[in-house]
Amino acid sequence: MAKPLVVLTHPLFPDLVRKELHPHARVKVARSPADLRKILPQAEGLMTLLTDRVDAPLLARAPHLRAIANVAVGVNNLDLVACRKRGVRIVNTPGVLVRATAELTLALLLAAARRLPEGEAICRRDAFPGWGLDYLLGFELRGREAVIVGQGQIGRETARLFRAIGLKVTFITSRDSDAKIRTRLRRAQVLSFHCPLTPDTHHWLDARRLALLPRDAIVLNTARGPVVDEAALARALRTKRIFAAGLDVYEQEPRIPRALRMLPNVVLAPHLGSATQETRRAMVSLAIRGLVGLLRGQAPGNEVRS
Ligand code: GLV
Repeated sequence: MAKPLVVLTHPLFPDLVRKELHPHARVKVARSPADLRKILPQAEGLMTLLTDRVDAPLLARAPHLRAIANVAVGVNNLDLVACRKRGVRIVNTPGVLVRATAELTLALLLAAARRLPEGEAICRRDAFPGWGLDYLLGFELRGREAVIVGQGQIGRETARLFRAIGLKVTFITSRDSDAKIRTRLRRAQVLSFHCPLTPDTHHWLDARRLALLPRDAIVLNTARGPVVDEAALARALRTKRIFAAGLDVYEQEPRIPRALRMLPNVVLAPHLGSATQETRRAMVSLAIRGLVGLLRGQAPGNEVRS
């Protein structure tokens, strides 16, 4: 039987693709949107990145498509309803990026608490005035209260790392009662997002909820940008309503609003949560295994059930 055609929107790691996908599929890499449009009509499988949008018009161009592997744990770039209607099954990459994302969250927290972006900028401008007793004081984290939004694997691993440096950790989810959320936010000296982007979590942290946080709060987002109302967060940081933020994701990536870029009390990273050598390769490998399973009519463990 002929091997199914799988289209990649990106070359991924060619050595992995050769070893793990080529034995099971004919593989084509789309080098441009026009190229993708040309190849899609024959494709049975599609490998996407979180920067690719899969919607009904794209699916309409892919009448033979049966399976998508999204090389990300978040699937907000895929129209899940349109895929279900078309019978297109999906796998993603849970588990393998948990540690990398939790470690980046911890890095953002430490950098925000110790004002590293301010210090870094001063050093790079060659403007270090010399050691000072009360110069650029931050604070220690031991004994502070952290609230994690989301109870998935990344949230739980982040909690383990936070506890290791002495933070007290509790969890909330978007399904909790407003009363419980309000009570937790009032004590959240660290508020860290580890939830998927869904209609329920869009702008979950808005001006109303920001106003509940203590003045020494640090907000961390390594989930998805639109979970936080960026304009409201920038206002809260500018007016020192909260102490600092550490952000890895933005509402309209790759755009980072000037209102955030201008602030000294925010650590900005360019969506690096899973960006380690070992994690990115593990993500591609897991996505390939899942896709091959779907194309064979199996039920891989990383199938997205919507
Ligand atoms: C990264 O943001 C992912 O969803 O994998």
